[in-house]
Amino acid sequence: MNLAGKTICLGVSGGIAAYKACALTSKLTQRGADVHVIMTKHAAEFVTPLTFQALSRNPVYTDTFDEKHPEKIAHIDLADKADLFLLAPTTANLIGKLAAGIADDMLTTTLLATEAPVYIAPAMNVHMYAHPAVIRNMQQLDDWGYHFIEPEAGYLACGYVGKGRLEEPESIIRILEERTEPKRDLEGKKVLVTAGPTQETIDPVRFFTNHSSGKMGYAVAEAAAKRGADVTLVSGPSQLATPLGVKRIDITSAQEMLDQVLSVYDQQDIVIKAAAVADYRPVQTFDSKVKKQDGNLSIEMERTTDILLTLGQRKQHQFLVGFAAETNDAVAYGIGKLERKHLDAICVNTVGKTGAGFQSDTNEVIYLNREGKEQHLPSDTKKQIAHRILDEIVQDMEADRK
Ligand code: CTP
Repeated sequence: MNLAGKTICLGVSGGIAAYKACALTSKLTQRGADVHVIMTKHAAEFVTPLTFQALSRNPVYTDTFDEKHPEKIAHIDLADKADLFLLAPTTANLIGKLAAGIADDMLTTTLLATEAPVYIAPAMNVHMYAHPAVIRNMQQLDDWGYHFIEPEAGYLACGYVGKGRLEEPESIIRILEERTEPKRDLEGKKVLVTAGPTQETIDPVRFFTNHSSGKMGYAVAEAAAKRGADVTLVSGPSQLATPLGVKRIDITSAQEMLDQVLSVYDQQDIVIKAAAVADYRPVQTFDSKVKKQDGNLSIEMERTTDILLTLGQRKQHQFLVGFAAETNDAVAYGIGKLERKHLDAICVNTVGKTGAGFQSDTNEVIYLNREGKEQHLPSDTKKQIAHRILDEIVQDMEADRK
């Protein structure tokens, strides 16, 4: 991304690395960015606000109630006008507050109010960095779509050598410049994504399900929201956090998924069915626990409604995308499903490959469309694959309009 002309809010929290934020402010300003520094009270113990004011040539904010322009509410104004937030250095305390949704000072209130991308450059003692609470909080922020600029291993001011050092200002700037500008090509579009497994009840303590983690669908929902879409995520049971800005509807069974999907289907522009829906459910469900008996047990199963087929049959203006998991002849089976279910496109996973499919953080997909496109999306993180799938969908929808 080109930093010139960008409004950047630089959040500085209270660690010794706050001195490096001065060089960062200076370098960002030299590149033509409009830098607004927000400091925590503890950061001001290390470096004075006046230093940042001189370097950024903008007022520096430390107190939510110190309104510098009476016609504006500073934290909302900064939150709205920021093109990006950069937190450097970020202490364990700030990471913890953000992960817990605490807004008790100027920096944290502004952070909760912004919809701009947030880049976090942590800096702390090596043992703090490895503490399970810090790891959990960073994981939570990563799940919500915050970006991390990982610290280097090296000599720390506390005397230890290890991971925890703030990334050098030059490197932080290079990382930001190398990031591609987030696309906003789904602005104004309504996107429905399904994700996760379904559970089909036998009795109050047992159900049939599958190994789907929901990661692929959640990644698609997150990517679509980042690209400006109004996203609804209908999710089976999953441990994953709801991505920022996504409306999530929780369901358990295939029937509940069908009902929820149909209730919002008409308003959607794009529907992406990444869920691993059960094809069968028990014919009978029991109100009390089934007791064991001698000999074998047979449970009769009946077909669930194929949600994707139902959507295909009722399709009006929607761009409908299915997923398929195949062990062999992936393209041929994929094309078969695409035609049978009246889809616009299908993403075929080749299951059985390492680094693809259920539970994995990476995936490999073949994107097929009605016009015979066969696009291989090579192994990458599910978050990247999600963006690649959306790239293909946007391209196909544009081609449809021509
Ligand atoms: N799907 C659905 N409703 C079902 C079953 C599957 O909507 N009851 C959707 C899935 O969300 C996925 C697509 O159908 O997008 C492909 O699922 P898959 O099970 O691979 O398709 P089938 O045709 O059921 O598979 P197969 O013929 O290989 O058993």
